Amino acid sequence: MEWGMANRLAQMIPSDGRCLFMPIDHGYFQGPTRRLEEPGKTIAPIMPYADAVFVTRGVLRAALPPDSSKPIILRVSGGTSMVGADLANEGITTDIEEVIRLNASAMGLSIFIGTAYEKESLLNLSRLVNDGEKYGIPVMAVTAVGRELEKRDARYLSLCCRIAAELGARIVKTYWCEDFDKVVKGCPVPVVMAGGPKTKTELDVFRFVHDGIQKGAIGVNLGRNIWQNEHPVAMIKAIRAIIHDDATPEKAQEIYDSTKNG
Ligand code: 5RP
Repeated sequence: MEWGMANRLAQMIPSDGRCLFMPIDHGYFQGPTRRLEEPGKTIAPIMPYADAVFVTRGVLRAALPPDSSKPIILRVSGGTSMVGADLANEGITTDIEEVIRLNASAMGLSIFIGTAYEKESLLNLSRLVNDGEKYGIPVMAVTAVGRELEKRDARYLSLCCRIAAELGARIVKTYWCEDFDKVVKGCPVPVVMAGGPKTKTELDVFRFVHDGIQKGAIGVNLGRNIWQNEHPVAMIKAIRAIIHDDATPEKAQEIYDSTKNG
């Protein structure tokens, strides 16, 4: 691997090989998502505990301080909305010069496998990889399911992750599912887990993050279950302990409770 590519990946993934990426990109198709109405205010208290931030160029310019050294994963796909005809019909929303100008450490885009726009989104990924590899910028592929959350099973997610890796993604973001080890084993590049919609309890999140890490994920790209929680700092500290300190779900719950009450 070229030095530049290796250096950017090392900025985002600390030396233990694990990572906590913080996505606040939801507005690019959902608008002002609950608790992300003012992204600068949402991110400020939790940013110190994230290894990288996943963000669009608009939110980067408007809400993140340019003197920060926090690695940026730039969301570079979009062009659709919750109220439009089809969330899968995304294009690439920026170009490689902008990514370099913004000093991003990586680029992220969604792929929509099994939809009418499968081919477009996979060719978007391929084009992005072509540009990224030229300049040493890694691509994180997001295996998106749109509104069809029930698609999140090992068979479908293994297919998506493997295809993303085959097309050149350096990291793949997917969902945790039952038999998650099948997803990780079939994917020759590192896998990170998204959180999805907010779960009923904190322990539910700690359990699936812990299980996913045990089964080979290198970390998370997990947003709503942190910043939509009543106590986002307690939540991110607890999840960070699972990822970087091998905390059990029960230990993470203790960290959450003591931080929240402390
Ligand atoms: C939104 C995304 C998010 O980055 C991803 O879904 C992770 O966020 P959450 O944990 O809230 O699901 O790709 O389009």
